[in-house]
Amino acid sequence: MIEGYAVPDFVSDFWHWWIAALTIGGILFTLWVVVSQTTRRLAPGEQAEVMEHRWDGDLQEYNNPLPRWWLYLFYFLIAFSAVYLVLYPGLGKFQGAWNWSSASQWQQEKARLDAKFDEAIKPYLQVDLNSLASDAKAMQSGKRLFLTYCSQCHGSDGKGSKDFPNLTDQEWLWGGEPERIKASITNGFTAEMPPLGDAVGGEQGAREVANYVLAMAGRPHDAALAAAGKDKYAVCAGCHGEDGKGNADAGFPNIVDAPSRFGNSEAAIVEGILKGRKGGMPSQAHLGEAKIHLLAAYVLSLSKGQ
Ligand code: HEC
Ligand code: HEC
Repeated sequence: MIEGYAVPDFVSDFWHWWIAALTIGGILFTLWVVVSQTTRRLAPGEQAEVMEHRWDGDLQEYNNPLPRWWLYLFYFLIAFSAVYLVLYPGLGKFQGAWNWSSASQWQQEKARLDAKFDEAIKPYLQVDLNSLASDAKAMQSGKRLFLTYCSQCHGSDGKGSKDFPNLTDQEWLWGGEPERIKASITNGFTAEMPPLGDAVGGEQGAREVANYVLAMAGRPHDAALAAAGKDKYAVCAGCHGEDGKGNADAGFPNIVDAPSRFGNSEAAIVEGILKGRKGGMPSQAHLGEAKIHLLAAYVLSLSKGQ
């Protein structure tokens, strides 16, 4: 059962009792109507009365009792509704004796299909990521997984957007070796960069360092500012390395190869230095290794343009 889904959100208990009372009252009323209208049987030889009203000139209505089979059908349905309401949710927020909910049924169904799917893709675990990336059939499954689990952040084409890195280029924040990609997906990222405004001498200092980073990356920059920023970059080198290529193992991204998901303008880098940056990709370990293996191969295939 998923928390928050299983129990309907009644604002107060009043509505729970109100709905339960209406439901039970409705059933009892139906029972009363059926019983009260069917106690009379025709005596042998007795003719059913003709009712007062007529339609279309000569259509008359007889007051016959309901046929027995029809009557029993009513009793059966009333009994059925009582049993149903004991077993299934239906009376206000009462969960029913079987504790069934559409959410839990959905979850069970999903878990069953998930297990089946994992079983089907297990053989791929034996195939190395580079070969798997060129296996068209496997990549169809990979694409479907990507659309389900990754596209909400990285885009359905993997090209990312502001705040989410592009996975289709050759440049990586965290390294593009096949096993590295697999680790990126498995572990996610919680890396954090502290605000460093004070360490670089305020906004002016931050602009200088930012231009130095842009210069290292070979992007358009202001040469005078970059020269002034060279020494101040020492603050950054401890994490991002002298050359800005970072250290994925230690959790520091490459800031000169990959186009930054925060933008490569001076302003974006300055903002990062002054306010800090907090990464965020939730770990995907819950998907299990078989799915992650296939996803890593798919990301690899995207970056190879296959
Ligand atoms: C304590 C370690 C540390 C220091 C010092 C540090 N950074 Fe970072 N930086 C990080 C981490 C960790 C991230 C990744 C944050 C994330 O994943 O959102 C990051 C991200 C960045 C990014 C964005 C990369 C991307 O994900 O798109 C830029 C640009 C950047 N840093 C530049 C700098 C500059 C310039 C300095 C020096 C003023 C600096 N950093 C100092 C740890 C550090
Ligand atoms: C909630 C949003 C979110 C989801 C869902 C998500 N990602 Fe990410 N992903 C990110 C962010 C943000 C980063 C950058 C992390 C950082 O640098 O701190 C990232 C980074 C990555 C990287 C490293 C990119 C590089 O340049 O090194 C890979 C690979 C990746 N994601 C693959 C995936 C795959 C595959 C999935 C689906 C199983 C996925 N991601 C799901 C947000 C997400």
